[in-house]
Amino acid sequence: MTESAMTSSVISPYGGSLVDLMVSPDEAAELKEKATRLPSIQVSERIVCDLELLATGGFSPLDRFMGEEDHKRVLDDMRLTNGRLFPIPVTFPVDPGDGMKLDSQIAIRNAKNELLAIMNVEEIYEWDRAEVAAKAFGTTDAAHPLVAEMNRWGSLNISGPIQVLQLPSHPDFRESRLTPAQTRERLLGFGYENVVAFQTRNPLHRVHEELTKRAADTVGGVLLLHPVVGLTRPGDVDHYTRVRTYKALTENYYEGNRVLLALLPLAMRMAGPREALWHMLIRRNHGANHFVVGRDHAGPGNDSTGKPFYGPYDAQEMAEEHSEELGVKVVPFSELVYLPDEDRYEEVSKIPANTTTASISGTQVREQFLNAGRLLPDWFTRPEVATILSESYPPRFRQGVCIWFTGLSGSGKTTTADVLTVLLMEHGRQVTSLDGDVVRTHLSKGLGFSAEDRDTNIRRIGFVASEIVRHGGTAVCAAVSPYKATRDEVRAMVGSDRFIEVFVDTPLDVCESRDAKGMYAMARRGEIKGFTGIDDPYESPDNPEITLDTVSRTPEENARLIIDILRRDGFIKPSATVNGDTES
Ligand code: ADX
Ligand code: MG
Repeated sequence: MTESAMTSSVISPYGGSLVDLMVSPDEAAELKEKATRLPSIQVSERIVCDLELLATGGFSPLDRFMGEEDHKRVLDDMRLTNGRLFPIPVTFPVDPGDGMKLDSQIAIRNAKNELLAIMNVEEIYEWDRAEVAAKAFGTTDAAHPLVAEMNRWGSLNISGPIQVLQLPSHPDFRESRLTPAQTRERLLGFGYENVVAFQTRNPLHRVHEELTKRAADTVGGVLLLHPVVGLTRPGDVDHYTRVRTYKALTENYYEGNRVLLALLPLAMRMAGPREALWHMLIRRNHGANHFVVGRDHAGPGNDSTGKPFYGPYDAQEMAEEHSEELGVKVVPFSELVYLPDEDRYEEVSKIPANTTTASISGTQVREQFLNAGRLLPDWFTRPEVATILSESYPPRFRQGVCIWFTGLSGSGKTTTADVLTVLLMEHGRQVTSLDGDVVRTHLSKGLGFSAEDRDTNIRRIGFVASEIVRHGGTAVCAAVSPYKATRDEVRAMVGSDRFIEVFVDTPLDVCESRDAKGMYAMARRGEIKGFTGIDDPYESPDNPEITLDTVSRTPEENARLIIDILRRDGFIKPSATVNGDTES
């Protein structure tokens, strides 16, 4: 460690000081009482995220959702009216129907109706979706996730000073939830002059580990590992899984006195170059004076013609251009790849043209490894990370599935379901069977046979099945379930891609001649009313995953047909991989 590295200094916030919108506990109590008499607005998760970073100074010097003048200037020049850089619009859209009034106060509540803040509404103005899309995101293509989302926002923006009573609560990963001020203080304690921040919304693999360690070495300082845990690109790995990987990495593979893991509750816009600049500004407020910008920073993927929205290094260019003004130096990287022949990682810009390289794309990670139950290789990812990912994204044969038998009373649902249950267990599946008649003795005890009660019974079975499936189990359900709409409701509850509807298509006269429970006879005598097939309709499925013929096939033959479908769809481990190996 050099002399100068011993003196710790953490760079000042952008604009000189951190914005702080939090009121004192006393004031909060007073305002809370007052808020009971104010009109309220329940806001989106995005606004909650923005509010949190406004409140704690993450967006300093911005201290409110943008008014019309700031908004205009940000779109045109990436600046606030005070001249400071600010590349991304931070707005509070409302519907005209929300009844906002100028110069009034409004209580801001989250989805759970918890009071977060009070705004003095000083401005209400119209904004232009196409203009914001074109200027801030460089496109009006709805394949851009923010452009698509913006189309659902209200057509008016409100602005005004905000008093924040309470930050959104984050009980998860409590020890890594640090405000800008807390982050700065923790960084001071490391005793380095330089801090390099790394932004990410993905699990970290070996190339990222290499990249971040190189960055820390380059600046001779401490690494602020600063993943986004607010909103990222739709379809990203959830933050619980990601943060578990970050913790495993920092605990096992980084020098503890050179890395700080802190979680950023940012709502990303996927705005590429402008977003990179924004990320840099936010990290300056958290105490970093260096920032990593690699390949395709904050990229939203491809547009509707299949072309990337931004060039792979546009973000680096934009960041460099404003680096001095922001007081944050860019640590650029070209794409980092693995060189299998040399067992090391290198930037593509620094290797000869014909060098053999290896990489695994996000899609390949999912399809060729996680879905197939194969662990990611060591050169690509640390074993701890591979294990966490395989737990969160188990192969199909360890994911949940619901097999739903529908058909007339006496059609053979229960008989076939019982054989299927045994066969599933033979294949290593844990099964819960939910038989319509059986659940009526506990889960649905007391329900009768009116159309309404029967629907309630089906919905209860469906709810339980959906929970079982969510937890990776197999639910075998057998109930007449005569109404199409209710079955479709259950299908939606479980998830259509893991719902196998089995239509037991036994003709009424066959069911009636079997009459195992003597019900048809009673229905014919009029002793029970509303009996399916007699005086209440059975609505056949339009597109069942399988239709069974119980007249010419035995229950076991039919059960094996269902097993074939489950195997085809990956819900049963293929026999060639019984020992966890895939066939070569
Ligand atoms: S995002 O914010 O850019 O969407 P992501 O996690 O994908 O998040 O990337 C984080 C940072 O690492 C970005 O600066 C990105 O450019 C950089 N990066 C990711 N993968 C690579 C790679 N293989 N080579 C170089 N830079 C990379
Ligand atoms: Mg990326």
